Amino acid sequence: MTETAAGHQDSYPPSAEFAAAANAGAELYERADADREGFWAEQARRLHWHTPFTQVLDWDDAPVARWFADGELNISYNCVDRHVLDGHGDQVAIHWEGEPGDSRAITYRELLEEVSRAANYLTELGLVAGDRVAIYMPMVPEAIVAMLACARLGLTHSVVFAGFSPSALRQRVDDAQARLVITTDGQWRRGKPAPLKEAVDEALAAKGDVPSSVEHVLVVRRVGTEVPWTDGRDLWWHETVSAASPVHEAQPFPAEHPLFILYTSGTTGKPKGILHTSGGYLTQTAYTHHNVFDHKAGQDVYWCTADIGWVTGHSYIVYGPLANRATQVVYEGTPNSPNEHRHFEIIEKYGVTIYYTAPTLIRTFMKWGREIPDAHNLTGLRLLGSVGEPINPEAWRWYREVFGDNKTPIVDTWWQTETGAIMISPLPGVTDAKPGAAMRPLPGISAKVVDEEGKAVQLGETEANGYLVLDKPWPSMLRGIWGDMDRYRSTYWERYAEQGWYFAGDGAKLDTDGDLWVLGRVDDVMNVSGHRISTAEVESALVGHPSVAEAAVVGATDPTTGQGIVAFVILTGATTPDDTLVDTLKAEVSKQISPIAKPREIHIVPELPKTRSGKIMRRLLRDIAEGRELGDTSTLVDPAVFEAIRTGGN
Ligand code: WT7
Repeated sequence: MTETAAGHQDSYPPSAEFAAAANAGAELYERADADREGFWAEQARRLHWHTPFTQVLDWDDAPVARWFADGELNISYNCVDRHVLDGHGDQVAIHWEGEPGDSRAITYRELLEEVSRAANYLTELGLVAGDRVAIYMPMVPEAIVAMLACARLGLTHSVVFAGFSPSALRQRVDDAQARLVITTDGQWRRGKPAPLKEAVDEALAAKGDVPSSVEHVLVVRRVGTEVPWTDGRDLWWHETVSAASPVHEAQPFPAEHPLFILYTSGTTGKPKGILHTSGGYLTQTAYTHHNVFDHKAGQDVYWCTADIGWVTGHSYIVYGPLANRATQVVYEGTPNSPNEHRHFEIIEKYGVTIYYTAPTLIRTFMKWGREIPDAHNLTGLRLLGSVGEPINPEAWRWYREVFGDNKTPIVDTWWQTETGAIMISPLPGVTDAKPGAAMRPLPGISAKVVDEEGKAVQLGETEANGYLVLDKPWPSMLRGIWGDMDRYRSTYWERYAEQGWYFAGDGAKLDTDGDLWVLGRVDDVMNVSGHRISTAEVESALVGHPSVAEAAVVGATDPTTGQGIVAFVILTGATTPDDTLVDTLKAEVSKQISPIAKPREIHIVPELPKTRSGKIMRRLLRDIAEGRELGDTSTLVDPAVFEAIRTGGN
């Protein structure tokens, strides 16, 4: 055990007891190194294949991979039916906890019945394999049922976070040409029902003479408020799905059948529809859930606090855990409804053993004070996970000490919407984890830290630019960007085209032990509370307002959310700013995109710093936003701009 100068322990080995019982041992690395494809074939056999595969990886059409391509399976059968057939029908799949305090325990048998009813009804609606379905729902059990019913029928789902605006929903519905939207009447938010169905109506309203592609809207009743209704188009779940037969036979689909599209922010204003397919995706989500979380079916109570609107919810609430027959907690609300004790009460109530959350929430808990967790019995917890952004060592240590009684392993898991599943993480029974480091690529995964030219960076080099690349295809990798394969190639594969590596968009370093530290995005993508938001998207929402002529947006370090959004705007000539303008503009961004994209600060400035080629120098704006001395201003057209920004910027 080593200590830092500050007297902190800087490396945390697993206890002998944990290591002895862990699912994964060090030999997993050796096995994968010796025969990578053989290793993945073994992992794929965790699943039930209606038609066994004979090929593992086909990379001939790189960068589009085909994994297990001649095999056939049904994702929903793997996540539900087989557990019932194996005699586990009475095991609870989901302990669902509603925000107002209502709860439901759903066994695997009940889940099978619900998914079957939904599959039967979606078939009755005329949906066929390959059709797209948008799911715009809060964290209710029906959202998971809807995803599994789509998967069962080979329908490609596109889950849209229920916090997104009507225009964001419309953009995604249009891009995927969805035939159906599944939603709820409303959602509980801090003790009050908030409308949701209205947002769908607004999203689907004809734009000029262009109707949306959506034929039906299927509505789950959750909050019981009155909702506007379009006869013929709108359908109540409880009148349709609930009345359908609970028996449905799952048909197999090829391993490369599209499973879902999930939109994520890129460096331009238009979100990218990340496409994932079936066999490889389920293989890697199940494999990682088993080994990284050390999950033991029938014993553990697992809780991932994500929302199904993000990839973490897809891979580590729905597909990975259910494939592994997990018993899991799904919670509808925010961590402080009705008060800050809520998460800890839930951990106690259900005896949660594995808890997976984001650094931003850990820092929020730190801010609320440790007397809150200390008032609860958290001794059931035996493993803690983190995802979404680099975790600062202070938060890591606090998490381990306060949640983990200073003994549970913490897995800091690096991955992305595009990677589909965890890529870089400690193995909890093997790795001596360091606070803040994602440590090593998992067995079967290969990553490098390289410079601009693709040369490996020196160990321990911290200041030089190091970029994280993935140099070998992996089973759950994205198969493209929906409708835009050119963008797929240019975004991820152009930078290191010669070497054929995937460019992740993250900076990274290797320490002198060769352990990997992810340092954050190197592109114009911000990370706010673990959510990816592009600067361009926020800029275009601001410029959409009649009083804004130009906008530049940067992510500035924030003690709780990781980054906070700071905008600099130039007003149109006709606008005289008043006290309410900044609030109006913040509200505009919230409305156009989502409350998560709302700027923390908006500065009204007379000019923006630009290079001679007209590019906004975000780096300098970030210096201002973070209150630093300005970096190199030599390439600026007019360095005097800064005085103007500083004095006009408050
Ligand atoms: C970006 C991906 C993966 C699910 C949630 C976010 C950052 C994610 C870590 C981590 C450092 C991390 C990266 C990555 N990120 N996990 N453990 N350590 N950075 O998915 O929205 O696709 O965002 O989140 O910058 O590229 P996403």
